[in-house]
Amino acid sequence: MQNAGIAELGLDWRYLAFDVAPSDLASAIVGARTMKFVGLNLTVPHKLLAVEWVDVLDESAKVWGAVNTIRFEARDRSGTWQAIWRVPPGEIAEVRSCGFNTDADALTRALREDLGLEPRGASVLLLGAGGAGRVAALKLAAEGVGRLFLVNRTMSKAGAIADEIRTRFAGVQVELGYPGAGVDLVLNATSMGLKPEDPWPFDATQFSLENARAAYDMIYRPAETRFLAAARAAGCRTANGIGMLLYQGARALEIWTEASAPVAVMRRALEENIYV
Ligand code: ATR
Repeated sequence: MQNAGIAELGLDWRYLAFDVAPSDLASAIVGARTMKFVGLNLTVPHKLLAVEWVDVLDESAKVWGAVNTIRFEARDRSGTWQAIWRVPPGEIAEVRSCGFNTDADALTRALREDLGLEPRGASVLLLGAGGAGRVAALKLAAEGVGRLFLVNRTMSKAGAIADEIRTRFAGVQVELGYPGAGVDLVLNATSMGLKPEDPWPFDATQFSLENARAAYDMIYRPAETRFLAAARAAGCRTANGIGMLLYQGARALEIWTEASAPVAVMRRALEENIYV
């Protein structure tokens, strides 16, 4: 996806994958900074750890408490910080790493563009209270969701998220457990559905997909989980998590390049490589 986007923008850059142990994260970031990389993406388990190891945090990383994108910035002779590739090597006085988070915005963009769902005022049943579930809950709250119902195998984790929402977004109505009436959206943020033998992500005696208008699954492989297939059969609009993967990457590319990401090209590359 990134290499397709980079090629479309006509840049002589390469996006490469590196396997880094969590204990080596700090030296990996310093190493990339030393080698004047343009930037980095980070995935689990590095996103939380990186908050400690970048030189500066963008507001997006501060708000979500996680870094999935790093931009290396150079200070030129006049003292201005800018994307490192903009400063000729001989004029770089200092380099720093700046941490961003593009995951949270990617969720709401996917809900809007792939599912036609406007979070503001919507009623949502959110399944899962792990790392992805927490960011989804907080982002929906930040967007002014109408009513938010939280369900998780370990309900105490959902409770902690509800408390955090009540503190940070006092106007949002958040409840633990299943809704008594219909919802606009049921969102699976658990890892249930990655494997065919996985248990169902919610208690079917407590909630029926007939009572949801739309269903979103953060899982994108398989392209249609049992949850999404059942939601489609129940008449819901459905979308899988490929949009979240795409939009977080598109935004990262924009942070590095300061150009608009060629989203259609990136989506095609993603689909070709995921669904081979
Ligand atoms: P991620 O970063 O993808 O959110 P995670 O933090 O490990 O990963 O969260 C996994 C989510 O899937 C959690 O909501 C987890 O429920 P618990 O908080 O109770 O662990 C959920 N999950 C994982 N295995 C599950 C299972 N067998 N049944 C139901 N839920 C499960």
